[in-house]
Amino acid sequence: MASAARTFTRAVARATPVRPVARSTRFAAPAQTLRAAGRRGYASEAGAGKSNSSLYWGIGLVAAGGAGYYFYSNGDVSAKATGPFVPAKEDYQNVYNEIARLLVEKDNYDDGSYGPVLVRLAWHASGTYDKETGTGGSNGATMRFAPESDHGANAGLKYARDFLEPVKEKFPWISYGDLWTLAGVVAIQEMQGPAIPWRPGRQDRDVSACTPDGRLPDASKDQKHIRAIFGRMGFDDREMVALCGAHSLGRAHTDRSGYDGPWDFSPTVFTNEFFRLLVDEKWGWKKWNGPAQYTDNTTKTLMMLPTDLALVKDKEFKKHVERYAKDSGVFFQEFSDAYVKLLELGVPFTTEERFVFKSSE
Ligand code: HEM
Repeated sequence: MASAARTFTRAVARATPVRPVARSTRFAAPAQTLRAAGRRGYASEAGAGKSNSSLYWGIGLVAAGGAGYYFYSNGDVSAKATGPFVPAKEDYQNVYNEIARLLVEKDNYDDGSYGPVLVRLAWHASGTYDKETGTGGSNGATMRFAPESDHGANAGLKYARDFLEPVKEKFPWISYGDLWTLAGVVAIQEMQGPAIPWRPGRQDRDVSACTPDGRLPDASKDQKHIRAIFGRMGFDDREMVALCGAHSLGRAHTDRSGYDGPWDFSPTVFTNEFFRLLVDEKWGWKKWNGPAQYTDNTTKTLMMLPTDLALVKDKEFKKHVERYAKDSGVFFQEFSDAYVKLLELGVPFTTEERFVFKSSE
C-alpha cells in the first residue's frame, strides 16, 4: 500500500498549481471587447477629422455624421443580411477563457477553486435525464427554479450558479444550459483532466420543465441504486464507474449533503486517485454524529460515501475500478467519453460537430 503521507506530499505539490499571474492577462480582451473597441475606434477616427479652421471643422462634423450614418446604416444592412448573431467556436472559446480566468481570480473558495462545484453543477443539471420519457437533462437549465433548486441533492450548487452569473452577463447570448455544461468542461480541463469535446444547442425552459425530486443518486445506498439511477439515464456499468471517478475532485460539506471531507489529497486536480485509494487503502466507518460514511485507516482525513464503497463491493464494478486505478490514461479517456454523453443527454442538437477547447497554460 502506498503511504498516505507520501501521497499527500505529492498531491499537495500537484494540488496547488501556481499559475503565473500574467497568464490571466491573455484573457483580458475577449473578442466582444475587441469588437466594441474597434467600433469605438471607428467613430473617434471620424471625430478626429476636425481641423483648425472652422471650415474644415464644419466639414469634419458633416464627415463624422456621414461616417456615423454610414456605420449605423451599414451595420443595419449587414445585420439584415447576416441575420441574428450566431456564435462560432471562437465565441465559445471566449466564454471558456472567461470562466478559466475567473477560476484563477476567485481562488478564495473551499480548497482554492470553484472547479469541483462547477463539475457537480454540470452533472446535476444533466443527471436528471430519464430515457423513457425523454425528460430532464441539461436542456432547459431548470435548476434555476424552485422546486428543483431546493432539491436536497442540489444543496450548495447555488455557489456554482452564482459564480457563473457574471459570465452570463458578459455573454448574454449563451443559454444557461450551454453555460453550465461548458463550465463543467472548463473545470475538468483547467484542473488538468482530459479534453471534453462539447457542442452547443441547449435552450432554456421555464419552471414547468422542472424534474421531480429523486432523480439524482442517494449516497447512502448500494450498487442496486447506482444501477437504477444511471441505468435510467442510459449508462452501462463501465460508464457508471468512470463517471464516479469525478470524486477525485472536491469535497463533501456538512452544511450541504451532511457528509464531510475530501476523497483524496488533491481535490483541485483531476486524477485517478479516487480509484487508487479505493483499491489500496483500507476504509472503515467514521465515528461521528453525521451520516454513515467511511474514512481511511491511515490518516482518517479522507472520506468515501457508501455508494463509493459499493464500487469495490460489486464484482462487475470492481473490475473497472481496478482498471482505472492501474491506468490513468484509460480512466481519462473513458471518463471523457462518459462525461460528454452525460452532458448531452436529452439535448435536441442541430449540429454534429463538437468543439475541443484550448486549455490555458
Ligand atoms: C452514485 C453516484 C453519486 C453520488 C451518490 C454522489 C454524491 C455526492 C455527494 C453526497 C457529494 C457531496 C456534496 C456536498 O456536500 O457538497 C458529492 C460531491 C461531488 N460530486 Fe458526486 N455523487 C455521485 C456521482 C457523481 C458524478 C457522476 C459526478 C461527476 C461526473 C460527481 C461529481 C461530484 C463532485 C465534483 C463533487 C464535489 C463538489 C464540491 O466540492 O463542491 N458525482 N457527490
